[in-house]
Amino acid sequence: MKSVTLGIFCKTALNFEVVTGEDGMSPCPQATAFEYLSEQMMKRFSNPLWPRHFFYWIPTEQNRQQIKEQHFVRSFLTNLITEKRKSIEESHASETDKDLLTHLLKAHNTAKSMGIVEAEQVTDDNLTDILMSLFSAGYDTTSMTLCTALYLLAQHPQAQEHCVREIQNTKGGLVDPHDLVYCRAVILEALRMYPPVVTTLRTMTKPVELSGGLVIPKDSDEFVPIYGIHHDENLFALPSEFRPDRWVSAEEGKEGCWMERSALDDSGEIPAANHSNLLAFSAGGRNCVGMKFAIQEAVLVLANLLKGLEFAAVPSFELKSSNQVILHKPDNGVLLNVSTRV
Ligand code: HEM
Repeated sequence: MKSVTLGIFCKTALNFEVVTGEDGMSPCPQATAFEYLSEQMMKRFSNPLWPRHFFYWIPTEQNRQQIKEQHFVRSFLTNLITEKRKSIEESHASETDKDLLTHLLKAHNTAKSMGIVEAEQVTDDNLTDILMSLFSAGYDTTSMTLCTALYLLAQHPQAQEHCVREIQNTKGGLVDPHDLVYCRAVILEALRMYPPVVTTLRTMTKPVELSGGLVIPKDSDEFVPIYGIHHDENLFALPSEFRPDRWVSAEEGKEGCWMERSALDDSGEIPAANHSNLLAFSAGGRNCVGMKFAIQEAVLVLANLLKGLEFAAVPSFELKSSNQVILHKPDNGVLLNVSTRV
């Protein structure tokens, strides 16, 4: 699943094809290097030798490998920036170039020509940093969402059937994410039950008094327990149950048609979910910039998979993640029985 979301990310962000090989699924060296860096980042987060500390400069084999891969990925991105900039300057970038990097460079040019930023204020190094952050945030999370959504659908064949019927109802077989209200609810429910980012951090800009009288002081760093919030029964009824119907209800008299529920809708079997309690993408001014992209991507990939494939549970398999530091990662992947849909 990772090669799918990585491929989509690189195509849309950089207009770069990352998958190679005869099967069209083997990752290219840049993808492999990036995978290595992501895994190392997670290991370092879960390690008491927090990367802010100074031990990572010691030239162990692992640290040397980290520097080598970092250099490889960064120089690949910097070259891409140089090439893209040249092609924009020479007006080769066709009007159909809609990748994020083209937009970023064009916006930077406009800001420079309007005197909003000086040329040296945003260097290629800064642009590489931006692409690195987007890279690390932009594909693993979506791939995990899809894995957990398929796991849940495999365990709930009726919900899988609802998705398939909804997909079959789309006009001319063309999948438009706006028509896929139930599939979207499945993605939201997977994000609620297994948020890929389980916790985030905020620094208090002022003291806050909680309802029990406890005061959180100014300047303290506070963890926001996203996973815990999503499993709090005061916020989501029957939190351990997979219930896409907390997000949607069936349209009366229209088989296979669904509509979004408002938080005030009390007509269903289960109370409607309140979207503001879903913190999978965090909240506020520094929430996830890729939220809409990620949901749309997940819905489209899910629908395209379900069009041709059926997913069934492996009876002995249970999804477990023992080491949830920042990212929710199943310990042994996700095992599913997959067959072609007849
Ligand atoms: C299901 C997929 C995704 C999930 C669950 C997710 C979740 C999150 C969360 C929880 C944060 C932290 C916000 C905070 O600290 O409060 C975040 C930040 C971020 N995400 Fe995502 N994300 C997803 C997909 C994406 C995609 C596809 C992109 C890029 C195209 C992206 C780009 C970013 C960036 C750049 C930040 C940092 C924002 C900032 O610091 O201002 N994310 N994401």
